[in-house]
Amino acid sequence: MAGREKVTVHHVIRAKQRGEKLVMVTAYDTPTARLVDEAGVDMILVGDSLGMVVLGLPSTLQVTMEDMVRHTEAVARAQPRALVVGDMPFMSYEASVAEAVRNAGRLLSAGADAVKIEGGSEYTDVIKAMRRAGIPVMAHVGLTPQKHKLLGGYRLVGKTAEEALEVIRDAEEAAEAGAFAVVVEFTAWEVAREITRRISVPTICIGSGPHCDGQVLVIHDMLGLTPSPPPFAKRYADVASVIRGAVEAYAREVRSGAFPGEGMYWGMKSGEHQRLLKLLEGRGEKR
Ligand code: KIV
Repeated sequence: MAGREKVTVHHVIRAKQRGEKLVMVTAYDTPTARLVDEAGVDMILVGDSLGMVVLGLPSTLQVTMEDMVRHTEAVARAQPRALVVGDMPFMSYEASVAEAVRNAGRLLSAGADAVKIEGGSEYTDVIKAMRRAGIPVMAHVGLTPQKHKLLGGYRLVGKTAEEALEVIRDAEEAAEAGAFAVVVEFTAWEVAREITRRISVPTICIGSGPHCDGQVLVIHDMLGLTPSPPPFAKRYADVASVIRGAVEAYAREVRSGAFPGEGMYWGMKSGEHQRLLKLLEGRGEKR
């Protein structure tokens, strides 16, 4: 998407009408948000994937509203041009519509421009209520990691016609309820293509093939920072080797005395060291 003005949900919807591909990536902190924004992404997702890739949690189920608020604030502090989407964590929108709207409002107050919920058909009431409150919502269908226990693991969804139909219905109903975009995760590519053809708002795919209006990746997977990334996550850089190499070099230099070297440390004002020694002597602290 061209231009330097702030990306809004209207730009995102218009991108589909213009046939422009949308680029989304996750970020969870200020410096990363600044970098991905400088790289020109259209949307930054403060994903609940942060639980696994940043906080070392076993799944996204343990991520809390407090985690999401804190990391959304951190990303918003970068003041990105990209649209910031805050992910609604597990149990922040399921129990009641009122609670869902209140929690979505917290993410907007933290600096998000929109929120994302996992699900489609079963959350049309939540999507409608959020829209009524002025909160743009992105839906998420196919593999919804917060429901991995119900789904039977992190698996490809929509391999059979019946399951495919369910996913398509999810996306259609979410879009009809007012979602401004739909993430389609790890579905058979034919399912993502059908959804993309059938709904008027953009599909943002991950692991669902090329026939989508946009793509999203988890930044740690892209950069080679996750030990076992999902099979659909392309690695664009080996930042793990860069970090390991830099820290090994630092450790070597500390142990050999090469760090800190000339120019990396500073002394007292002229004559002050002599005065200090006298002061210390006066206290009876001889060297
Ligand atoms: O939490 C996340 O990063 C996500 C993406 C995988 C779409 O939901």
